[in-house]
Amino acid sequence: MNARVLASPTVYNASVPDADALVRLHLSESPYGASPAAVAAATEALSRIHRYPAPQRDALVTALARHWDVGEDQIAVANGSDELVLATALSLGERDLPGLVTAGTFPGYRAALDRTGRGSTALPLDGAGLDAAAFASGLSAHGIGYVCNPHNPTGGALGPPAFATLVEGAATSGTPLVVDEAYQEFAAGLPQTRDFLDGGAPLMALRTFSKAYGLAALRIGYAVGRADLIAEVRRTLTVLPFSVNRVGQAAALAALADQDFLDSVRAAGDRRRRWFCAELDRRGLRHLPSVTNFVAVRVSDASVAQDELARVHGILVRDTGIFGFPGHLRVSLGDEAELRRFLDAITA
Ligand SMILES: Cc1ncc(COP(=O)(O)O)c(C=O)c1O
Repeated sequence: MNARVLASPTVYNASVPDADALVRLHLSESPYGASPAAVAAATEALSRIHRYPAPQRDALVTALARHWDVGEDQIAVANGSDELVLATALSLGERDLPGLVTAGTFPGYRAALDRTGRGSTALPLDGAGLDAAAFASGLSAHGIGYVCNPHNPTGGALGPPAFATLVEGAATSGTPLVVDEAYQEFAAGLPQTRDFLDGGAPLMALRTFSKAYGLAALRIGYAVGRADLIAEVRRTLTVLPFSVNRVGQAAALAALADQDFLDSVRAAGDRRRRWFCAELDRRGLRHLPSVTNFVAVRVSDASVAQDELARVHGILVRDTGIFGFPGHLRVSLGDEAELRRFLDAITA
């Protein structure tokens, strides 16, 4: 790797306070910003920041219920989907049984299950993906299941038969299944939890405004699910009545109304992913197929590569080893100049 990018040879990592000065390809953020309507709504809400936010998050709940064509009692809004991971672990299913998760995935599920004293079983991945049949049959011995789909950090997603198998497993076992769909906006056309909700299985999707909607800093996530499960989660969320701030609520409402902006983000993201994967191929760099706003790039020692990219080149990426899926760097689809810097650095 060359050492031409940084003027100062400071040692950087993902948690340094001046991470904003670096090339941020480590958190699957959007390079497209947020809808101008959302920014305007957030700006306007700043004039009211001396007032507490609406604890019931009513306007956003109503808008999301309309958007998904579900009852308002099927929506819960929270401070990012992170908060919902914890709230579901605190609220759903048989508490004396451990939760079922997959190995090699977003670590929040296990962290929440451990912290709430439930514990967890991690089902090994089948290659880079979920073994849906094994997960479905494992649900009956567990109090709750968490699936990350599309999958972080590999970037793949379940097809219709595998998704239906999971839903069937939840329906027959009665074990609540939480599907983290943080990246679902990028995977149009692939199955999502909403498609199965009317069948009555104990399902809940976790969604976020942090990724495709570009509102990561404002911390808005929501759950769409079976009404009795949502009621339990809401009961937990009332412990923190003001956790969803006023600026975030206003911005998310406006962002949801601007689906044209979302479509433009999706289209630009698809083009960027195709370009980036073609560049990787052209340079002989192996990678996993992705339907998301990140790509897992194969490297021989991801921990060393992550550190060197940060320290020498000022580029932040994620070693997937920290998810229990070693051997790759998860690279967010940032803007083209940022990705060129990554490509040049990794092949230098
Ligand atoms: C799979 C997954 N779930 C949840 C989150 C957290 O999202 P939020 O910003 O809504 O808390 C992330 C963030 O990167 C994620 O990758």
